[in-house]
Amino acid sequence: MCGIVGYIGTEDARGIILNGLKRLEYRGYDSAGITLFNGDDDTFHVYKDKGRVAHLEEITDFSYRSVLGIGHTRWATHGVPNQINSHPQSSDSGRFFVVHNGVIDNYKELITSHLNESVFASDTDTEVIAHLIEKFSYRMSVSEAIRKTMSLLEGSYALAIIDTYNPYKLYACKNKSPLVIGVGDNGVVVASDVMACVGYSDKFVPLEDKTFVEIDGATYRIMDIIGKVVPHVEKPIDVDYFNIEKGEYSHFMLKEINEQPAVLRNIIGAYFDGDEVLLNGEIQQAIRDSDRLYIVAAGTSMNAGQIGRELFEKMAGIPTEVHIASEFAYNLPLLSKNPLFIFISQSGETADLRAVLVNIKAKGYRSLTITNVKTSTLAREADHFVEILAGPEIAVASTKAYTAQIAILAILAYGLSDKHINLRKELSKVAISMENIIDKRDYIDKLVKDYLTKRNCFYIGRGIDYYGCLESSLKLKEISYIQTEGFAAGELKHGTIALIEQDTPVIAIISQRAIAKNTRSNLNEVKSRGAKTLVIATRGVHEPDDQIVVDDVYELFSPMLTVVPAQFIAYYAALHRGYDIDKPRNLAKSVTVE
Ligand code: F6R
Repeated sequence: MCGIVGYIGTEDARGIILNGLKRLEYRGYDSAGITLFNGDDDTFHVYKDKGRVAHLEEITDFSYRSVLGIGHTRWATHGVPNQINSHPQSSDSGRFFVVHNGVIDNYKELITSHLNESVFASDTDTEVIAHLIEKFSYRMSVSEAIRKTMSLLEGSYALAIIDTYNPYKLYACKNKSPLVIGVGDNGVVVASDVMACVGYSDKFVPLEDKTFVEIDGATYRIMDIIGKVVPHVEKPIDVDYFNIEKGEYSHFMLKEINEQPAVLRNIIGAYFDGDEVLLNGEIQQAIRDSDRLYIVAAGTSMNAGQIGRELFEKMAGIPTEVHIASEFAYNLPLLSKNPLFIFISQSGETADLRAVLVNIKAKGYRSLTITNVKTSTLAREADHFVEILAGPEIAVASTKAYTAQIAILAILAYGLSDKHINLRKELSKVAISMENIIDKRDYIDKLVKDYLTKRNCFYIGRGIDYYGCLESSLKLKEISYIQTEGFAAGELKHGTIALIEQDTPVIAIISQRAIAKNTRSNLNEVKSRGAKTLVIATRGVHEPDDQIVVDDVYELFSPMLTVVPAQFIAYYAALHRGYDIDKPRNLAKSVTVE
């Protein structure tokens, strides 16, 4: 989704903004733009176009000194990706420049009620904001004009705003979409993600909804919508710069797949004291007090949630439901008497989840967020949060966050189980077994070359392997664009088997002893209809012809292992097709609009 970086201070604004935008590229975007103040002759310049930040860098003039600017990566919602619709957008006379992340639901009504006379250059909802600010600025201060505009906007927005009449100020505000300010000795950064501030700011402040900030190079003032100063706390930035670079790897996704054993060990180090689980007692109590857990998530995190349900029900005997956040938000099912809501989100910013959180908080229900970003909105706003400690995940396709989420769910479930396994040892075994798969990645690369030659593919499995199939198929489709579906193996013959023809690729995941035979017989059904099959199996249930055999681990943990070859399958399929692996088309890492 859109990314914002603004800067005011004494350093090179252009460098900070362009570098910040590159660090936000992981969010997904189709256009990029920047407005810079030329301190040499007091003029403002806009550079923007469809395409990558690298292209923006090429079209930006580097010949003058600039200490103020706002930049943006746009993921189109209103209007096609093109030069005109790219941000910054400007007001009628060009006095104000605005960059925006979010969606303004009532922009058409605002045009009718306030901007009848205006002429719009773009198809964006954002341009309406710039026009409104200018209109109000004729009869009030700029700060008041922006806050008045905020009071009219319905929907989500994070905004950075420049007033060309005053190059000593930068303004920002937000509602629902994330925005932080980074504070350092040489200036203030405004950004969608702390990542853009690393190296330029030592501290940051996550802005609350409906707050507004007025910044000069050295100081800033955070206010609410009526202009009352809002207290805030500056937090240290502890993201390691090294962690947000690719290093020796050709892609972030490859780096992140390879990091999984280390992430698991990191989790073990943080959440165990000897063989005992170290967890905030209040969290354990909240789970114990609830009569049903409601896991709410999207995409890969929801697939991890499905494994979470198995863990909570089978290890700890706690009834658990898993829901798609975007469905749950507007179609609340019948709830139990004492529900606990568990939000699983790598980014902690997914708007669909936030909509549910706001809704259930208003009803007085308790909540727990499991996230990779401890400073995120969902971490801040839930009653409790647990960090998955996966380190920054930059590739759009989630890999290490998925396995880390499952490990954390296992730790939560274990705390309330009869402790029939030694969890620390079992998780350590998974880490070692992941390394064994990583060592075989060249072999998987070769398999993929011969095997994934069609436009479609199916993953099939039963029980917990079925949930593994959902995640494996999501990985393959999102980066290789091969149309892939994950199916419960037994369900195929109830319709979908009609799609199997000569050489249709079907990948089976088989890790559970009790149902291995059933999946094998479904595999034979597709084979006899011409399918080209590939099997990922655990050693205990494997057969001689199986192509990928992974170690045996505690059965409920096998999805953490069987997903690793599936991640490599997706990676190499996309690599062979020459696609942009870390930034697949149409997708965003942080989905901050509903
Ligand atoms: C797929 C993927 C997405 C995310 C989904 C939720 O690889 O990354 O499906 O899992 O958009 O995002 P988070 O976990 O940040 O809430």
